[in-house]
Order: sequence, then C-alpha cells, then structure tokens
Amino acid sequence: MLKSAFKLKCIYKSLPISNVLNFRLLSSNASDFFRTKLSELKNENISEPENSLELIFAHVLKKKLLREVRGENLKKIELTNEQIQDINEKVLTRLSHMPIQFILKEWEFRDLTLTMKLPIFIPRPETEELVELITQQVDDRKDCEILEVGIGSGAISLALLNELPNVKHITAIDRSKAACELALENAKKFNFTDRIRIFKHLLDSDTLPEIIAPSGKLFDIIVSNPPYVPTKDLLKLEPEIYLYENIKALDGGIDGLDMIKLLLALAAKYLKSEGHLWIEVDSRHPEIIKKIVENNYEQWRLNYVACYKDIFKKDRFVEVQKL
Ligand SMILES: C[S@@+](CC[C@H](N)C(=O)[O-])C[C@H]1O[C@@H](n2cnc3c(N)ncnc32)[C@H](O)[C@@H]1O
Repeated sequence: MLKSAFKLKCIYKSLPISNVLNFRLLSSNASDFFRTKLSELKNENISEPENSLELIFAHVLKKKLLREVRGENLKKIELTNEQIQDINEKVLTRLSHMPIQFILKEWEFRDLTLTMKLPIFIPRPETEELVELITQQVDDRKDCEILEVGIGSGAISLALLNELPNVKHITAIDRSKAACELALENAKKFNFTDRIRIFKHLLDSDTLPEIIAPSGKLFDIIVSNPPYVPTKDLLKLEPEIYLYENIKALDGGIDGLDMIKLLLALAAKYLKSEGHLWIEVDSRHPEIIKKIVENNYEQWRLNYVACYKDIFKKDRFVEVQKL
C-alpha cells in the first residue's frame, strides 16, 4: 500500500498541473472527456489505454457492457461533476501503472465478480481455462475432494465450487494471510463458506499439517497456479505487475520450478489412486516436469498425462495422474 501511495504521489508531481487540477472539466460530454483522458494515458505509455478507460467509464457510469461506453452510446451521455471527479481520480491512479483490477477493486473470473485487493495476485484469463479443463474432467455424479495450493483471491476454488455442485468440499492453502482473508471474503460473497476451508500455510515440504489433512486424508484433485516465473525473468515483467503484485506469488526460483517440484511430491502423497494433479506452468516447464515425473516413478507412482495449450497457444497446463 505504501509503495503505491508513494508512486501515486510521484506521478502527481510529474504531471502538468493542468492534468492534476482538471477536476472541473471543459466539457461534460462523456465522449469528449473520453478522448481527453485517452490522450493522457497514451502520452504516458500506459498499456491497453482504451480498454482501461472503457472499464473505468463503465464502472463509474454503472454500465454492465463495454459497448454502452463506446461510440454513439457514449456521445449521448452527459457526466455529472461527481462522475468527472471519480473518472479523473481513477485515471490518475492508472497513470501510476496501478492495474485496473486494483483501481476498480473487482474483476470477473468465469461467472464470478471477485473482490480484488492490493497486492494479492490478479487472476489471469489463462487460469479460466485451467478451471475449464478440470470441470470437463470431474464426474458430476460423484463427490469430489479438491485441494488448492496457493488460493490467492479464491478464483480457481470458488469458480470450481460455483460450477461443480457435486464438489462438496475444497481445502485451500496460501502462504499469505492477506490472500487467505481475501479468499474468505470472496467465499462469503458467494455463500460458499460451508464448502471451503482456507488455511494460512506455507508449503515447504511434501507433508501437510494434521489440521489441513488429517491422517489418511486423500484428494481426487490437487490444483495449483503456483509461482512459476524464473527469478531472472521477474525483471522483464511489466510495471503493473512488479510494482503492485506480491512478488512471492510469482517468483518460482532459479528455474521457476521450486514450488512445482513440491507439488509433485505432495501429489504423490495426497492424491487418491487415479486422482489428478493440475498445474499452471511456464511454457518451458512441461518437458522438464515430464522428465522429473519419469525419473521419480519408483518413489512417486505418478504418470505424466498431458500438457495443454492456453488461449495464446502456449504450453500452459500440465496434468499428472496418481497410479
Ligand atoms: C500465481 S498466484 C495464484 C493465485 C490464484 N490461485 C490464482 O490463480 O489467481 C500464487 C499463490 O500462491 C501463493 N504461494 C506461493 N508460494 C506458496 C507456498 N510455498 N505455499 C503456499 N502458498 C504459496 C501466493 O501467496 C499466491 O497467492
């Protein structure tokens, strides 16, 4: 929080005074105002300026669809002073590179509008596909026990609970207290609290504490979108990510595989026979994971099933099965 407030202050200082004081607008027509704000975002090289601005306008004007804040529709709207001020403040925050999800404090994931809070990892569109793969696999006639490692805002677990009524229970862990609190807040928002248990726990071995997995407890599915960015690649991330998101949610160690290796060992121990481990990974990882699984077959009895591509045609999801 401190870091973002500081950054915002700096941006305030570096902007022409007319931008900062532009809370009273020359024109209150939404279309004209949109153009003015768009050029401010473009001048500062903010990524996806149009999309950011459409989302801000839709949020402030309480419109559900982005097309309601485009073209002719926008021309018909006159803004109130409060709306102008609200848009100005949000644009100013966007100029400090704060991701739009943190500015709007909410984000859509599958069919859920999740509350977002700094600096908890923002769910990505690729991860919606991971949920899709799991929903296709789960037999909807049977109860299914799921463990999620690294729940973040709750996106994966809550979407699964929403789409799979036969999933009676999900156990989820995260090393971050703030992430656990946000996931719980989101679970409350959708009335899922009786179907999910969330624990603050740092996974650092293949063993879970008794309270999380009482002796003999096994899962049908273990799922994780772990930190998988190799440490040296963190420097290449956009400012939106490295300034505002918790780096511990991203940093996967030297080769990005630190937590993935733990997840494989965990799956060997806590998956039911024929249970599945689903992991979101870097596109360089699947081949390495396949080798690790094969090399540890005697100890783990795991089988590398497949790798699936994401919407951007990158190898992204790995499926492993317990024999
Ligand atoms: C990439 S984020 C994914 C969050 C969420 N599942 C999603 O897809 O939006 C990774 C999450 O794992 C958590 N995490 C990282 N290392 C962990 C560890 N060793 N044990 C438990 N949680 C961990 C982070 O705090 C973060 O919330």
